[in-house]
Amino acid sequence: MINRANHNFSPRVAAVSAAFLNAASDKPYARAAIRHLYVHIPFCARICPYCAFYKDLLDRSQARRFCEALLRDLHDQHGVFTISPKTIYFGGGTPTALNTSSWDDDLLKILGREHTAAQAEQSFHILRDAGFLNINLDLMFGLPGQTIEQWQKTLEKTTSLCPDHISAYCLTYEEDTEFFVRQARGELKADPDTGSDFFELAMWILEGAGYEHYEISNYARPGFSSVHNRAYWSGEDYLGIGSSAFSTVGTRRWQNLADYRAYADRILSGQSPVGSTENLTNEMKRGEKIALSLRTRDGVPAAELKRFMRETNEFIALGLLRQSNGNFVLTQKGKSLADSVAEAFV
Ligand SMILES: C[S@@+](CC[C@H](N)C(=O)[O-])C[C@H]1O[C@@H](n2cnc3c(N)ncnc32)[C@H](O)[C@@H]1O
Ligand code: SF4
Repeated sequence: MINRANHNFSPRVAAVSAAFLNAASDKPYARAAIRHLYVHIPFCARICPYCAFYKDLLDRSQARRFCEALLRDLHDQHGVFTISPKTIYFGGGTPTALNTSSWDDDLLKILGREHTAAQAEQSFHILRDAGFLNINLDLMFGLPGQTIEQWQKTLEKTTSLCPDHISAYCLTYEEDTEFFVRQARGELKADPDTGSDFFELAMWILEGAGYEHYEISNYARPGFSSVHNRAYWSGEDYLGIGSSAFSTVGTRRWQNLADYRAYADRILSGQSPVGSTENLTNEMKRGEKIALSLRTRDGVPAAELKRFMRETNEFIALGLLRQSNGNFVLTQKGKSLADSVAEAFV
């Protein structure tokens, strides 16, 4: 239970607790322990034409105020929850945009990225030389004009550097992006069949190089899978601070205002930055957990799919699912159709 008697809540903390309590239920909640913290940094040096994440061009005059708001937000949340994080994830946007001023240059240009392949490689070596023992590289495939040969070279170049973690995302044409508009006009072509060839080549090369394909878009050297992301996928509670950040505690989910200026205004004037809240039913939580864990190497415990025996058996007959250690796991063929398989269970 939140012990109001023992806490001198500021108006802002009271607003946060009230938002949480009203939203969560009419009974006071336990002072939930937060083990996973997400911090959203909404700034980028340049806006990529395919990206729909919440971000804005870096405005140095606003960045300091935003950071002040982040710290206040964290301080205030500390009045509501017991925050003892096992993982903290800085996402964005581009977190490194705050403190500083893929491997094919032509594709990087199409993607509107500012760096060249040589600069990306140089950054990697700088981090390694500085002693970073855990480095992730993000790759994208299914890009306009990208050939399978280019993708193969990208993958080989990546494995030659021996990063500890690799994310490989298939380009999606998100609404409200320049790419979406250009695709609608017929200027950019998305070919779902080619996408699965690229995906299979990534599995082949990366697994061959010793990486574990532990989630559809993520590969890691043994022992280097992302603890933070695994917490999301297994349905653990997490607290998000920063504009647009989501938090989920128990059956309650809320999202901060997406506009970072409005977020900072609210926090710095002692008001709640929460923009929307949602009550999750146990059914919704179960469905989410099945969809997310199906994308992982461990798969879904058989007990969770008891109600879906007919669908499960059909997917097994089609060679898309298999049983392993009491769990249902996607086969290599099933991984290319992960989202469609998950849809049948939610
Ligand atoms: C949102 S960014 C955040 C980190 C950093 N700003 C960056 O771009 O690497 C994380 C990853 O998502 C990828 N991404 C963004 N929009 C995407 C889209 N529409 N389809 C596939 N991947 C996308 C980015 O290219 C990047 O690899
Ligand atoms: S992909 Fe990354 S750098 Fe590009 S706009 Fe999105 S968050 Fe910013």
